Amino acid sequence: MEKINVMVVFGGKSGEHEVSLMSAASILRAIDKEKYNVIPVGITKNGGWRICDCTIDEIENGSWENEQNQLLDTKLNSKPKISLLPSEKGKGFQIENSQVKKIDVVFPVLHGPFGEDGTIQGLIEMLDVPYVGAGVLASALAMDKGMAKKILEAEGLPQAKYILINRKNYFKDKIDCINLIEGTFNYPVFVKPANLGSSVGISKAKNQEELKLALEEAAKYDRRIVVEEFINAREIECSVLGNEDPIASLPAEIIPSKEFYDYRDKYFDGTSQYVIPAELSEEMISKVREMAIRVYKLIDCSGLARVDFFVEGETNRILVNEVNTMPGFTKISMYPKMWEVSGIPYDQLIDKLIQLAIERYKDRN
Ligand SMILES: Nc1ncnc2c1ncn2[C@@H]1O[C@H](COP(=O)(O)OP(=O)(O)O)[C@@H](O)[C@H]1O
Ligand SMILES: [Mg+2]
Repeated sequence: MEKINVMVVFGGKSGEHEVSLMSAASILRAIDKEKYNVIPVGITKNGGWRICDCTIDEIENGSWENEQNQLLDTKLNSKPKISLLPSEKGKGFQIENSQVKKIDVVFPVLHGPFGEDGTIQGLIEMLDVPYVGAGVLASALAMDKGMAKKILEAEGLPQAKYILINRKNYFKDKIDCINLIEGTFNYPVFVKPANLGSSVGISKAKNQEELKLALEEAAKYDRRIVVEEFINAREIECSVLGNEDPIASLPAEIIPSKEFYDYRDKYFDGTSQYVIPAELSEEMISKVREMAIRVYKLIDCSGLARVDFFVEGETNRILVNEVNTMPGFTKISMYPKMWEVSGIPYDQLIDKLIQLAIERYKDRN
């Protein structure tokens, strides 16, 4: 059987560049090399695309970006370049000076803006190649915390109360904005840039002084800012897999080691704890899984997504926090861990995602 050419894309311009390298390295280690021929393509922090000829460790530690690790064709002494040729159906990605004649599937292992937000999905769509994960709309919607909230609200799904603030308006009349926030919520409040992930730019503000700092911080990252009421609850996550008939994993509980589950904690310190399956009643587990699928379908996801919730202790209220369409994907990340506990091991998960990408492409054509 001919091998399937999978272009694994990692790195990227977002603040989650390093996380992406870790996710991609795990995928490259586990992917079935008998079945798939992998073309590793890194996107530098500046946005340049590079075909890599280096070890997986070099991808993980970032040294793939060094000149000598980019594939050289010894005969031609020139670097194979990726060209975009949308002229021939299904052959939009051309790798010049290479044995690879056609990319069969793209696996964009990119987190955050320019990777998880519909931009690269749109590019791949134009080139007419199957790709892993959510399409343009779902990616963009899930990435934008403001828009996602509006959609969840329209569907009557429970979530934290929120206000959307435009950066420009904030700088024009700070007092007015602060009055609006203080008139709507009690402290503490959460302040987030609308379009970022991995807790970058997010703060918990306990008083007016902290609120001002939080707004300034979030404004560094985005034109739009989400301010939310503080939810005192357990953090529960659920993995969803599939296209038209998605399935939900057993949920997990995250127990943050600090005030909240922040970037360092997620990827570097690793001091947060998790419990899979989450210690919830059978009934609550079913409700979380059902709601995860409902949210997944509402956003029109495909392939995979991790849906995150808050579960309140006393009321048992389940609130949707957010949807991640390309969640962390290292072997020890929550998304694959939840599937492992639910009966789908890591390597099979990769296989399944590639199959789903091909199925979705066929379905749409
Ligand atoms: N409204 C809220 N109430 C309480 N904690 C929150 C709230 N919003 C966010 N958090 C905390 O901050 C973390 C990061 O926020 P989240 O919205 O999930 O952003 P990210 O996309 O960066 O993961 C959450 O995992 C949770 O610990
Ligand atoms: Mg989160």
